[in-house]
Amino acid sequence: MNDDARPAPEPQDIPPRSGAADEVNRQDPSRRSVLWTTAGVAGAGLGLGALGAGTASAAGRGAPDAVAAAEAVAAAPPWQGRTMAGVPFERRSTVRVGIIGLGNRGASMIGLFLALPGVQVKAVCDPVRDKAEKAAKKVTAAGQPAPAIYAKDEHDYENLCKRGDIDFVYVATPWELHFPMAKTAMLNGKHVGVECPIAMRLEELWQLVDLSERTRRHCMQLENCCYGKNEMRVLRMAHAGLFGELQHGAGAYNHDLRELMFDPDYYEGPWRRLWHTRLRGDLYPNHGFGPVANYMDVNRGDRVVSISSVGTTALGLAAYREEHMEPDDPRWKESYIGADRTISLVQTAKGRVIRLEHDVSSPHPYSRINSLGGTRGVFEDYPARIYLEPTNTNHQWDDFTKYAEWDHWLWKEHANPPGGHGGMDYIMVFRLMQCMRLGLVPDFDVYDAAVWTAPVPLSHLSVKARGVPLPIPDFTRGEWRKARSGMDSEKPAE
Ligand SMILES: NC(=O)c1ccc[n+]([C@@H]2O[C@H](COP(=O)([O-])OP(=O)(O)OC[C@H]3O[C@@H](n4cnc5c(N)ncnc54)[C@H](O)[C@@H]3O)[C@@H](O)[C@H]2O)c1
Repeated sequence: MNDDARPAPEPQDIPPRSGAADEVNRQDPSRRSVLWTTAGVAGAGLGLGALGAGTASAAGRGAPDAVAAAEAVAAAPPWQGRTMAGVPFERRSTVRVGIIGLGNRGASMIGLFLALPGVQVKAVCDPVRDKAEKAAKKVTAAGQPAPAIYAKDEHDYENLCKRGDIDFVYVATPWELHFPMAKTAMLNGKHVGVECPIAMRLEELWQLVDLSERTRRHCMQLENCCYGKNEMRVLRMAHAGLFGELQHGAGAYNHDLRELMFDPDYYEGPWRRLWHTRLRGDLYPNHGFGPVANYMDVNRGDRVVSISSVGTTALGLAAYREEHMEPDDPRWKESYIGADRTISLVQTAKGRVIRLEHDVSSPHPYSRINSLGGTRGVFEDYPARIYLEPTNTNHQWDDFTKYAEWDHWLWKEHANPPGGHGGMDYIMVFRLMQCMRLGLVPDFDVYDAAVWTAPVPLSHLSVKARGVPLPIPDFTRGEWRKARSGMDSEKPAE
């Protein structure tokens, strides 16, 4: 059945106060339910939402309105500061870190910060006190002084950001909180690294760019997949010209999350599932987009100019609920509108094409696709395979392990990194802390964060308008034309 036959409800900027989330909350009087309810209320005050009200309703009227809405936000506002492209951190012997959000991600990342010399965790924040206290224990167990704990309420992160003894704030909270937390950190003079996506609205991306430029603080999306071993090897090979002129790439987040999204204990509340009741597009483009954007020097010689997205009907989550939930389960009140699979085509100024896919609600083995093709050959991941002329001429994939000599220096030095996700989390944290200690330019900046996240609101608009191409803002305001280094760093002298 297509969209015409089954009209989906309009996306809600904020879950209705008496809606599904609150119904869920009423079932559970624990501390957690308080957090879920008040997070929604706090969101209203913080101006959270899927899209500006104007853009969402405009798109519903059709493609020309979607284009007009996207064009209005694509136009660069006047500079409020100076570019942050190529701006180094201040050199410091110790990086003092504050961590906001100690759920699955924050709790696993804290150990990586603690594993590094010259890094101190000064404060931790989570309104679920137990999580904050467990994190604090990890800090003392690592031999560092007890960190300050901020667990009073949903706004206590503001007090963490006000501390004078923090250089860098790491944010690993539900998506709707990323923007206000990044903003608060910068306004309090802190560099900030945020989990993906960095914001949910296009207007918020511009605000983060302006704020980073005005405050001279770096605002980075900590895209760990850019530091994957294969991704870094392909990056170096691409920049050395092995693929010839780059033409196309693809990235994805195809990860069956149905069980986790319905598990009442995995996430802190239903926040992740509820985004499927609000947006139709690609909710999580960054893991696939970031590495391919790096291969193509996006913001460093090329730029992404437009996106066109189409989406399937939304069947997966409802079907899972049908199979697993009792008829009186409060989750039956939720209406899922997010496409099971969103496919986006992104064009660059140099005429390259990037395909993005997002699917977390269908059976599928995990894949970020991670492919790159040019005039001399092609690489595809999952599983990794390569075909490069003149070595390969028989139409058969070749073994990617033959190209280990192209490994990035970070992977040559850290052959078996600790931590999750095959070690890329550690490599990312190591490199970021190294850049901060040595006063180097970070591998990525606010412009990369904005570009990697822009498909979230834009794909929603484009899907609703049946794939109409929409402009992607030039968040660099013209600076993208200048070639500069990014992830493809040289090993620095300590
Ligand atoms: N890069 C990766 O590989 C990766 C992996 C997993 C998750 N993530 C991202 O990390 C983020 C968190 O995901 P998760 O799986 O840990 O979710 P989670 O629900 O387990 O954790 C979120 C935490 O944020 C806390 N929180 C909520 N409101 C808060 C507030 N106002 N102040 C401080 N803390 C607050 C919650 O109590 C919870 O502990 C998401 O953005 C997710 O997309 C990234």
